[in-house]
Amino acid sequence: MMKSAWLFTMAMAVLAVAAWAAGPVGPPASQANPAAPAQAAPAPIPSGPAGERIRLGQQIFEQTPHFAAAYVGNQMSCKDCHLSGGRAEYAAPLVGMPGLFPAYNKRAGRVITLAERIQQCFVRSENGKPPADNSEAVRALLEYFNWISRGQPKPYPGRGLVKLPALQGNGERGAHIYAKQCSVCHGDAGTGMPPVLPPLWGDTSFNDGAGMAQVAKMAAFVQHNMPQNAPGSLTPQQAYDVAVYVDSHPRPKMNPAYKKY
Ligand code: HEC
Ligand code: HEC
Repeated sequence: MMKSAWLFTMAMAVLAVAAWAAGPVGPPASQANPAAPAQAAPAPIPSGPAGERIRLGQQIFEQTPHFAAAYVGNQMSCKDCHLSGGRAEYAAPLVGMPGLFPAYNKRAGRVITLAERIQQCFVRSENGKPPADNSEAVRALLEYFNWISRGQPKPYPGRGLVKLPALQGNGERGAHIYAKQCSVCHGDAGTGMPPVLPPLWGDTSFNDGAGMAQVAKMAAFVQHNMPQNAPGSLTPQQAYDVAVYVDSHPRPKMNPAYKKY
């Protein structure tokens, strides 16, 4: 039993590594819908300096701890939560964002720029530091968002996360769901196997100020996008149960020096 579970994990990891190494070619087959413009492949990256900046943005997005090391305090990449290179609906897609900011932000209580919204995810989801507005990292990510937005419908479908009713999760039921349907990839200890299988709690995960650390947001993310091998198979109640279980474990504390983000 132990051995076969381990073999399955390794097989999943190998598949995931293959997908990762092949680059952002599109959504996983299980989620692909050729008819949906939302999933259309982006235009080819142009050559020259403009293309190089887009490519750097893409690398930062896919391998954040490696390509934006100075601003990252964990083992998480943008693409771990913003699926299919930031193009998957209801996984907080980033297509169209340059046209939607500056915008009012509830967390900040004021109008913020897209650069500031990126800084929030660095400080919270990446448990790191905010790159300056004019830093290479922010400029490259903005170019990348412009590029994935080209030729896409406005508004782009599936902004944010799927809307679920507000439910009360049960951590004991959640523990059973986790053991059966999550631990094979994210591990019994929640540490995953970065960079391929992202952590859900512990030192290498997002901090307690991140959106994903809120039960309702994690439930919405999980209900639509997880388990990765059968997305959409959990009921909203099951998604809340497993989110409560994940949330009951320790994770890094957000640095209070950055609370303005
Ligand atoms: C741990 C998961 C996680 C990681 C890692 C993460 N984000 Fe996010 N991000 C979220 C969630 C959750 C939201 C909010 C979705 C909602 O509430 O609608 C969000 C929202 C955003 C938004 C605003 C989207 C909108 O619709 O207004 C931007 C821009 C963004 N993230 C950029 C990034 C960038 C760039 C990175 C990498 C440096 C990153 N995020 C890493 C989880 C994550
Ligand atoms: C087959 C492997 C697999 C299974 C099973 C699986 N996940 Fe994931 N999960 C992933 C991968 C890989 C990602 C990164 C995004 C992507 O590539 O789809 C991810 C991303 C996530 C994220 C956002 C990133 C992070 O680390 O916080 C959450 C939350 C999550 N999974 C929760 C769950 C929960 C809860 C379950 C069980 C109901 C589950 N996953 C089952 C592979 C899996």
